[in-house]
Amino acid sequence: MTKNFAHRGFSGKYPENTMLAFEKAIEAGADGIELDVQLTKDGEVIIIHDETIDRTTDGKGLAADYTYEELCRFDASFIYRGQMGFNKIPTLREYLELVKDKNIVTNIELKTGILEYIGIEEKVWELIQEYKLEKKVIISSFNHYSILRMKKIAPDLKYGLLSETWFVDAGKYTHELGIQCYHPVHYNLVPEVIEEIKKYGIEINTYTVNKEKDMRYLIEKGIDIIIGNFPDLAGKIIKEYK
Ligand code: G3P
Ligand code: CA
Repeated sequence: MTKNFAHRGFSGKYPENTMLAFEKAIEAGADGIELDVQLTKDGEVIIIHDETIDRTTDGKGLAADYTYEELCRFDASFIYRGQMGFNKIPTLREYLELVKDKNIVTNIELKTGILEYIGIEEKVWELIQEYKLEKKVIISSFNHYSILRMKKIAPDLKYGLLSETWFVDAGKYTHELGIQCYHPVHYNLVPEVIEEIKKYGIEINTYTVNKEKDMRYLIEKGIDIIIGNFPDLAGKIIKEYK
């Protein structure tokens, strides 16, 4: 049965990629949580979607130009103008502490598409080992070189190749790279694309699925994971099919 992953936590109702959004996703019954990681100036693995802190916080500039301590003074729920209290940018470590004993799978997206963050793969791998979460993570990235780098150091983890375009023969490509999952944008998943990917036994995990009509189509097509901003709605729809 299709699994329900909360995109950047329960980001439809709470500030994305904050501990609050992750806690609320768990409360909403999500099977898993998707989040984005980048590196600070002092090498801390932090959870934030954009390379800059401008959109989601009350600060400005590249996250990579700040130490983690400096970043902690910015409010990652700034978009909500105080209605959610103060929420700092979390570290991956803080997040793993939250989920370590919970029945939650985490899709860690390496945001290495614009800034390469050389060494981030090793840092993420060290944290996964420290928290013994090897069987409860999926590592994805739009930067497939980054995925191959991490696969070299941690060959037994589950990996997914992110795509936001109409990739030809995605199943074949994913299979030939020895990767288990393909993570396309959901509107690429027309029947022939799904069929080609499934032919290779590749798991299909798709984003960002927020509409009930899309959820139903993807569940009926046997898509493995739908990643969306409303894990409450997705959970309710999936239950109907059980
Ligand atoms: O991992 C799925 C999705 O989060 C990828 O796009 O831009 O929301 O990180 P984006
Ligand atoms: Ca993401």
